[in-house]
Amino acid sequence: MNLSSLKEFLPTPAAAAVDSGRLAELQAFEKSKAGVKGLVDSGIQTVPRIFIRPPEDRAGDPIQGGDWEVPVIDLTGIESDRRRKIVSDVGEASREWGFFQVVNHGIPAEVLELMLGGVREFHEQETEKKTALHSRDMMQQVKYSSNIDLYRSRAANWRDTLTVSLTMSDQIQPHLLPQVCRDSTLDYIDHVKKLADILFELLSEALGLERGHLGALGCNQGRVVLCHYYPPCPEPEFTLGTSSHTDPSFLTILLQDQLGGLQVLHDKKYINVQPVSGSLVVNIGDMLQIISNDEFISADHRVIANKIGPRISVASFFSGESRSGKIYAPLPNKQPRYKEFTVRDYIIKFTQRPIEKSGLDEFRLPEE
Ligand code: OGA
Ligand code: NI
Repeated sequence: MNLSSLKEFLPTPAAAAVDSGRLAELQAFEKSKAGVKGLVDSGIQTVPRIFIRPPEDRAGDPIQGGDWEVPVIDLTGIESDRRRKIVSDVGEASREWGFFQVVNHGIPAEVLELMLGGVREFHEQETEKKTALHSRDMMQQVKYSSNIDLYRSRAANWRDTLTVSLTMSDQIQPHLLPQVCRDSTLDYIDHVKKLADILFELLSEALGLERGHLGALGCNQGRVVLCHYYPPCPEPEFTLGTSSHTDPSFLTILLQDQLGGLQVLHDKKYINVQPVSGSLVVNIGDMLQIISNDEFISADHRVIANKIGPRISVASFFSGESRSGKIYAPLPNKQPRYKEFTVRDYIIKFTQRPIEKSGLDEFRLPEE
């Protein structure tokens, strides 16, 4: 790809940030197929230029503690009298934070441990085994790469990712999954799907709807599972593990290990999402903010880089029905603030938007 064709493909601010030296470095990095882990294994002691962020875009000090803790919700007794309290907590967290953690969610701790372990083994196996899966093909169900938006972002992130996409077909063909994490991934995906169904029921009720409402809209479909590996970073102050973003989904369920580093923007400050053993982090995505007419918020979040590592996390996105071309619209109980959309429209607008805009801006109706 030459520079001029790349610029056409990029949103303008990012295009402006691409100079030919940077492009050559990105291309060399991509060609290695060894990801950030490959750089670390080669013994680098400094962060290469393509990962360095402008000073205003670095991590700084997060605030935490006291009143500032992401709500932790205990799902024990979900079919008992406690349900009302759980629904109310889920509603409050979704309105005020867009983020919460769940414990006693029904997924055995062992399933979570094996999933994290399998992802780690995938990323730590011989490079040749990983590079066989290196791809950016949208249609490929299982693939590995570093920085999904490598050529679009202003600075690359300090992480590598194994992607499992169930958007084209609901069934995973097991042989496509790497052998080192095949069984653990199949098992985890099975469990996390059931948890998503439970959460969509709670969220429906928290919005004042029938329990099955969001499920009937297919919000629990369109699953994509990103298995992230954040290698240790020699100069974490210059870069980020994941730059600040909102998720282009209805809902995301995140499994993180005990290292920490995830932060959510709350009241204009980044707050640490402290690892809680056995918990899962749940966050509202853009599409649920849209259909809830801003009642629930899709919060900005990021992951800081760390001298210590690796950190492993698994983000499961539920992005709705895309193959059927289903149209999603703001729920009818309020004056709509957004245009209707199909999942395909949303994802295209989200990936092509100018870098400083949120995907939501593209669908917001002018105020009357
Ligand atoms: C994501 C994400 C956070 C993490 O994949 O969208 O926000 O902790 N991941 O890896
Ligand atoms: Ni995210």
